[in-house]
Amino acid sequence: MLEIGPGTGTLLKIFENHNIKTTAVELSENMATLAKQTSPNSVIINDNILNVKFLNNQFDFILAMAVIHNFPENDLIKLLKKIKLWLKEDGYFILDTTNNKITESGYFEKEDYDTRVERYRRKWKKEDLNKFLTKQGFEIDELVNYKDPTSGKEWLIYALKKTNNK
Ligand SMILES: C[S@@+](CC[C@H](N)C(=O)[O-])C[C@H]1O[C@@H](n2cnc3c(N)ncnc32)[C@H](O)[C@@H]1O
Repeated sequence: MLEIGPGTGTLLKIFENHNIKTTAVELSENMATLAKQTSPNSVIINDNILNVKFLNNQFDFILAMAVIHNFPENDLIKLLKKIKLWLKEDGYFILDTTNNKITESGYFEKEDYDTRVERYRRKWKKEDLNKFLTKQGFEIDELVNYKDPTSGKEWLIYALKKTNNK
């Protein structure tokens, strides 16, 4: 499996423990170092996923947890094209992101930080994201809504498959 943006590598470790061959691409050098410590048996590449090359049909699973909202729409289209090439025909692409009242992009202040930090976010409304993913050639195999009791945020967890005719 391939994990995009593993952060500290906690999820990667769970897959490692199940003897799954794991590769991850992490943009942040600090996070990549932490992920290597947490998941020493994974291949961790410190790079932008948009700059990395893999073989066609290389992966059974590709994961992007809490990652796609970092991508402007045009970059996300580029990423999804790559994922379609890298994923096996019967493979799964798993992603999650928050559900928002409207779809919008911009720099938003982090609500859960002590210091004032603004971050780029592409905030998706569920219905818009569903249409977008379908247009990019993915079908929704399963969609789970999860409300984080701490933050009150609603998360959308998708299990996606490649659409056959695209
Ligand atoms: C919010 S964190 C999520 C970390 C982890 N997946 C989790 O769910 O806890 C997003 C991660 O994606 C990484 N990331 C963002 N853009 C990326 C890119 N273009 N290529 C690779 N990693 C990226 C960030 O550095 C960060 O570690």
